[in-house]
Amino acid sequence: MVASLRNNTGKIEPLIPEVVPKHVAIIMDGNGRWAKARGLPRTEGHRQGTENLRRILKACVEFGVEILTIYAFSTENWKRPRAEVRVLMSILEMVIDRELRELHESGVQIRHIGELDAMAPALQKKIRYACDFTKNNTKLILNVAFNYGGRDEIIHAVRKIVASGIAPEQINEDLISSYMYTSPLPDPDLIIRTSGEVRSSNFLVWQGTYSEYYFTPVYWPDFDKEQLREALIEYSRRTRRFGQTDEQIKDE
Ligand code: IPE
Ligand code: IPE
Ligand code: MG
Repeated sequence: MVASLRNNTGKIEPLIPEVVPKHVAIIMDGNGRWAKARGLPRTEGHRQGTENLRRILKACVEFGVEILTIYAFSTENWKRPRAEVRVLMSILEMVIDRELRELHESGVQIRHIGELDAMAPALQKKIRYACDFTKNNTKLILNVAFNYGGRDEIIHAVRKIVASGIAPEQINEDLISSYMYTSPLPDPDLIIRTSGEVRSSNFLVWQGTYSEYYFTPVYWPDFDKEQLREALIEYSRRTRRFGQTDEQIKDE
């Protein structure tokens, strides 16, 4: 795979800053299978996956990505065995406890997308604290999708719109976007899914309509900086038409 990154002089293809996606979203999948392939418990896969996130965060800053959205726990993941759900919650708690200071010092602004209410009150408090503590940082925006579901987000937005008494004729795309958890951030340019699954699993249903998708068979704990570079290079080769023709795009 790395070979495809090399140009004919044998050098690794450089990223072109103008075509680095501003907002990258990642469906971090395959922790369980990574662990199973090594005869380890699934929880070990989640731990390694969390370690990997540090590397990917660094690489994003280095490559000039401004916003990273990570899918860490879906509204459907509550259906997993209770012990696994507990581990996933405790990993989030541990990450906040152990990494918050370093993330803050690296200029990371933490945001949460999803429904906080279903989580333990102590964890809710930690998440709110982490977001508040880092809110003025500008190096990288890290959007953590935890207890997130795209459909759930739309339900949440519709409820708020109805409750605020907005007239039907005032409802348009911008208004709906402003009620999404991600507001006021721009939509993701690139959505990466690791582990070989080719589906969205309820991720960024509203925001991802014109995102470029990149699928790789690599399990999340093994998705490293070079794999990310490869995804960004592939993105730079795509033509985003947004419904228009190639000729129109060239004239812009
Ligand atoms: C992704 O890895 C992490 C979460 C969904 C929380 P998985 O746990 O889904 O790993 P696989 O897909 O079973 O290998
Ligand atoms: C999607 O992965 C959710 C996260 C990565 C957090 P899943 O492993 O839950 O997705 P499905 O069930 O295979 O679609
Ligand atoms: Mg999975």
